[in-house]
Amino acid sequence: MFVFGSKGEISEKFLPLFLKIKKSLLLKLYQKFFVLLFAFFSIQAMAQNSFLAEKDIAIFYPKDFDSLQTLPSLAIVHPLTKQRNLPDNWEIQPKFSLIDGKNAVEINFAESTDLYGTGEVTGSLRRNGREITLWNTDNGNYLQYNGDRLYQSHPWVLGVREDGTSFGIIADHTWKQEIKLNHPIQMISEGPSFRVIVIEKETPQEVVQALGKLTGTIELPPLWAIGYQQSRFSYYPQQQAASIVDEFRNRQIPLDVLWMDINYMDGFRIFTFDPKGYADPKKLNEYLHKNDVKSVFMIDPGVKKEEGYFVYDQGTSGNHWTLNKNNEAFTGKVWPGQCVFPDYTRPETRTWWASLYKDFMSLGVDGVWNDMNEPSVFDGTNGSMPPDNFHRGGGELPKGSHLRYHNVYGMLMVKATREGILETNPNKRPFVLSRSNFMGGQRYAATWTGDNKSTFDYLKESIPMSINLGLSGQPFNGPDIGGFSGDANPELFGQWIALGAYYPFSRNHTSTETVAQEPWAFGEEIEKVSRTAINRRYKLLPYLYTLFREASVNGMPVMRPIYFADIKDKTLREEEQAFLIGKDLMIIPRWAKNVHEPKGNWETIPFEKEDDGYQSIVKLRPGGVVPISKIVQSTEEYSAEKITLLVNLAERGKASGSLYDDEKDGFGYKNGEFSLFEFKAKRVSKNQIKVRIKQKEGNRKIKQQYRIGWVKDNQIHYSAWSYSNNIHLII
Ligand code: NOJ
Repeated sequence: MFVFGSKGEISEKFLPLFLKIKKSLLLKLYQKFFVLLFAFFSIQAMAQNSFLAEKDIAIFYPKDFDSLQTLPSLAIVHPLTKQRNLPDNWEIQPKFSLIDGKNAVEINFAESTDLYGTGEVTGSLRRNGREITLWNTDNGNYLQYNGDRLYQSHPWVLGVREDGTSFGIIADHTWKQEIKLNHPIQMISEGPSFRVIVIEKETPQEVVQALGKLTGTIELPPLWAIGYQQSRFSYYPQQQAASIVDEFRNRQIPLDVLWMDINYMDGFRIFTFDPKGYADPKKLNEYLHKNDVKSVFMIDPGVKKEEGYFVYDQGTSGNHWTLNKNNEAFTGKVWPGQCVFPDYTRPETRTWWASLYKDFMSLGVDGVWNDMNEPSVFDGTNGSMPPDNFHRGGGELPKGSHLRYHNVYGMLMVKATREGILETNPNKRPFVLSRSNFMGGQRYAATWTGDNKSTFDYLKESIPMSINLGLSGQPFNGPDIGGFSGDANPELFGQWIALGAYYPFSRNHTSTETVAQEPWAFGEEIEKVSRTAINRRYKLLPYLYTLFREASVNGMPVMRPIYFADIKDKTLREEEQAFLIGKDLMIIPRWAKNVHEPKGNWETIPFEKEDDGYQSIVKLRPGGVVPISKIVQSTEEYSAEKITLLVNLAERGKASGSLYDDEKDGFGYKNGEFSLFEFKAKRVSKNQIKVRIKQKEGNRKIKQQYRIGWVKDNQIHYSAWSYSNNIHLII
């Protein structure tokens, strides 16, 4: 029967059809027929409830699986139809069971396996023994619930065995659930039974790439979004925002983005501007643009319940609000007072939400910051909506309780936001930052790790958090540099900015009523430390952009665990002070002690002549070629026309690397308007190397000059600049 998948579940493609059928009374009988038929096929399926969708990807269905309860998957975008039977020797076998009356799955694995993933989490990089709850929570300072639930959910575990072979497990549903990383692993749902997807590969890198294929990868961001960004709660009035930009330019500290937090709004009403402090946002944006700076403005989901306010009036007449159990619009308190909340499960509501961005973006706003979208409700049940609130769904999505849709509230919001931005500016790459999200949500928005604190512990913890987010499919992430709540001090800020230059998302942000946290706020010494750190980020821009491009193509994280350098070396598995950026650079924060470094001759890159005692140690992999550029004050100034190739030869005298370049924004790259260069370095004699440069992909032609920077024994030996595709260096 064509309506059914190979296993008997209603194929995801036919759910909309199914739902439309439901609308008609006459066809209700017809629907009953389908349900009966579905039950029949489900019984058929019981005999065979697992299969291979690809060589290394297995799907397991519980016997009582009801597709309407968990499908269509909001995480998975790749089709999962049966290709073959599950081989007898398939190792990771989820066992469906009931634990305390709840639908659960238990998974056995070899004792010596190291576990990672589970998304945005507090604590150590290695997740063995941790128990977390997937229930998106506005968890300031990560203090509630022992920090075991934060702003987003990733029902995902990555297991790396002793020999490096690896597996990944997805509990493919959005309901509230717990993940207990004991022996066996337990994934316990508060909802119905669910299907489980198991990936089995030779390496963790391959598992993470398979996750990217299944859940989608980031869209290539505009280059400016990779630059350094400055924020605070809140720059007010707009003259202050403009003067922050002046300071950056006067002090020659690179800056790409300035962030506008909630105070720009009129009484915290979204899509409005404070008539006193932000009377002319267009003028502010023009000023920023004139200075090569982009603006990002915040938009929260809570809409002030106030007749006469256009967003409330439109939403009410369009019937867009999430309902409570009594079928009335749910209200709860957030910044503006009593609010109502869009029901983003409804396609009509997403379309309406998207349309709100038109006038807003037309003021020259460059990016959008969606906050409080767990959703956070100050006087709500555990700080959010009650689980028995009701979402009406539509299109592909069945109606359902908030218990089902809570974890994807933020994800559906940013999906609509992204569409809205794109409709207004169809020729620009949208940039959205979201606090809440769900596995797969990397397709719509970047993320930051919420409200951390200005202490050294939070600084340290940011590293395993960011790495695990990357290992869970979200490469574009970072914490508030300097810390959000509490006062930073010169030492802490110096250490944090020296590390923060390497986060994939590099933004300094702090709360209201905390000390100023701009790079110059802590005196001359720390201003210099900040400038040096941020300069380094801009030097590394060609390499970083190449890594973001890679993430968008194959899902590889930008920030990676050290053990990716040598998956067979068990001593690296818990290293969480140092980390990798791509595969070629190792970052060792200055405060790190007893770092487990991978074997081999990783060469330290001597970026500056003088050591300020704060800058991270950056080491280049033996066998790596890393493209760097000169310092620029913003990505607007950047060009790949003059590139230094840092080379560290491997023992066999070879090294390689690549460089991605395009127009920095827009979608020309989708039609081949980009260049991907490949570099191959080779030792010719003891003191002589050559590098060959080749354009491997893309039609974009640019005139480029290169030089070699051979990194050897703490020194960089430079060749002359050359337009040739073959460069030589003799030292
Ligand atoms: C909470 C966010 O986490 C924080 O970054 C922001 O500054 C405040 N909301 C105010 O909008």
